[in-house]
Amino acid sequence: MGVRIIGTGAFIPPKTVTNDDLAKTVDTSDEWISSRTGIHNRHIADNMTTSYMASKAGKMAVADCGIDVLDIDMIIVATSSPDYPFPSTAALVQREIGALRAACFDISVACTGFIYAYSIADAYIRAGIYKNVLIIGAEVMSQHLDWSDRSVCVLFGDGAGAAVISSDKSDTVGTVTIHSDGSQADVLRCNKDNIVMDGREVFTFAVRTVPQVIMEVLQNTGTDINDVTMFILHQANRRIIEAIAKKLKVDITRFPMNLSEYGNTSAASIPILLDELKKNGRIKAGDKTIISGFGAGLSWGAILVEW
Ligand code: ACO
Repeated sequence: MGVRIIGTGAFIPPKTVTNDDLAKTVDTSDEWISSRTGIHNRHIADNMTTSYMASKAGKMAVADCGIDVLDIDMIIVATSSPDYPFPSTAALVQREIGALRAACFDISVACTGFIYAYSIADAYIRAGIYKNVLIIGAEVMSQHLDWSDRSVCVLFGDGAGAAVISSDKSDTVGTVTIHSDGSQADVLRCNKDNIVMDGREVFTFAVRTVPQVIMEVLQNTGTDINDVTMFILHQANRRIIEAIAKKLKVDITRFPMNLSEYGNTSAASIPILLDELKKNGRIKAGDKTIISGFGAGLSWGAILVEW
């Protein structure tokens, strides 16, 4: 039994905050932010909730693949900014989209959340327990920001992305690899409501672990790096992605990015980019792509996805 992504969707809140807007309230500049991160803009949820945006993205992913919403067996929402401690955001999505047969829960793996959610869907499907799993990454990161802390508030944005993962006749195995290192938990954390991080440590961690986990997935699946059409990475920072590409000796043009427009949307960044690439025709049937995430935990992982 194999696994395939059969539909994607995304929701971006309309309100935007540019670097120049931020420079009016904190001591920063468009030049500083864009040269160090590649970010020019971010979208802010305002009074929209995580479950609202997650439901919009989820509904689009279900419509994209054309399955009956009642055929969804499970909904997993990866988020660090749930509406409530309980019920889960996934349960609120279930109510909103009418996926009444689904088992629902959230997971908290920060920016690696989409990869972990995929790994759970993958395991349930390969075990023959479920056929269709809706996974969503959705975040209102703006609620976790101290807007007077220029070292952090310039980096993040809000949004939601979703994918329907389904069983397939192919028999590829070993396509997902996930890792955690709790000894590094303090490097990047959310204290009460505010994100605090050691930016340099996060940078070094990402550039060390992401190439390793990508090579691990390629080895496990017997895939040649030259046969991978695109490397779809968590959209944290342009310089991180450039350093990873350099380490892998892969041309940067095979690393699509949209962080300039959205900033770092944590668990939502990968599915938002996936949806964009699918809708604009950059991902084609038969393509092999690597998807990789990294973030708090510390946590990191990668998936080989054949389209
Ligand atoms: N505007 C202007 N100056 C700033 C800003 C800002 N927004 N933020 C920090 N500075 C200042 C600092 O105060 C410091 O000033 P000082 O030299 O007078 O003390 C100076 O800029 C340099 O600060 P550094 O932290 O050394 O800057 P660095 O070149 O390391 O870049 C950055 C910081 C962009 C955060 C970098 O470390 C990075 O990219 N880290 C990765 C972190 C990341 O992407 N986190 C996202 C969340 S984690 C995730 O998604 C996995």
